[in-house]
Amino acid sequence: MKLSLAPMQGFSDQIYRSTLSHIGGVDVFYAPYIRVENGVIKPKSLADIAPDANSGMAVVPQVLTNNADELLLVADMVAQLGYTELNWNLGCPFPMVAKRRLGAGLLPYPETIDSILTEVDARCKTGLSVKMRLGYLSPDEVWPVLDVLNRHNIKEIIVHPRIGKQMYNGVADRSVLPEIVAKSAHPVAYNGDICTAEQAQNLLANNTSVTHLMIGRGLLCNPFLALEIKGHTLNGYTRRSQMMNFVGSIAERQLDRLQGAGHFLQKMTTYWEYWSQMFDDAHRAFKTVKKCRSIEEYTDKVQDIVLSWTLAVNRETKNG
Ligand SMILES: Cc1cc2nc3c(=O)[nH]c(=O)nc-3n(C[C@H](O)[C@H](O)[C@H](O)COP(=O)(O)O)c2cc1C
Repeated sequence: MKLSLAPMQGFSDQIYRSTLSHIGGVDVFYAPYIRVENGVIKPKSLADIAPDANSGMAVVPQVLTNNADELLLVADMVAQLGYTELNWNLGCPFPMVAKRRLGAGLLPYPETIDSILTEVDARCKTGLSVKMRLGYLSPDEVWPVLDVLNRHNIKEIIVHPRIGKQMYNGVADRSVLPEIVAKSAHPVAYNGDICTAEQAQNLLANNTSVTHLMIGRGLLCNPFLALEIKGHTLNGYTRRSQMMNFVGSIAERQLDRLQGAGHFLQKMTTYWEYWSQMFDDAHRAFKTVKKCRSIEEYTDKVQDIVLSWTLAVNRETKNG
């Protein structure tokens, strides 16, 4: 079974990926999407996938585009950097993106997907995988898109079973997975709402041909989730000391990168929206961090939270 960290803008960057890799359990790390603007890849996106900064980890870069030349440009670039796979984002639900027929906004247009892949097939210097929702306006959009994908060179299809219009509301509809697996000519991976080891195990037990789970927010809320899915147990002491290293190392590296305490505290607050879930009183943990006004105050408060606050009940009891 392969477990991967989902691509997440603002989260699954090189700093997060490499720090999470020290905890273990995650086999593959997807980088946030790359955009091409006026024929140029942003230097920030390239820095994020620089080989030196990503050594020792299996990383898959991702592209957001509706244009074959752009896709090929990014594929060439990532191949030059030594990557063997590029992931195509057909899932981004944000209206600003989708209304430009990008991400999930391209799913109602299978003929466009077909013509892009026809150009890309023979010339792509990397393997190509696709990460997709069921559709943008309707979950029925998935079937014509699958028909198209079946005709092309695709390494894997990662399915997040929501539609774009849903954003992250409602639940991911796992019931559709067996039919997708049956109709797909390519391996199918699953992504969506996996937050506990039990959920992962249930999904795998009911979908035996799915051997790759991609996890996003579940791993943000609990960096030990991949280890737990693989059957490891961590006691409270180990969990707290690893958590201290994890949040401390990310903070240290972000502090080097970001200018000024304001930016740093803002960034840490976005992380703590998720990290606070590791504690029983997640709401108070988040509010405590959000109120910090200096780096010193942040460091003191975080140390107190991580070392002494009660861990989220289900995790602490489950792991002794
Ligand atoms: C903050 C955030 C940023 C995201 N950025 C990306 C992205 O760059 N590319 C992408 O394909 N999906 C992106 N996603 C979607 C996730 O990869 C994933 O499909 C989604 O969170 C559902 O999986 P989960 O329930 O395991 O979190 C993002 C999601 C979040 C919450």
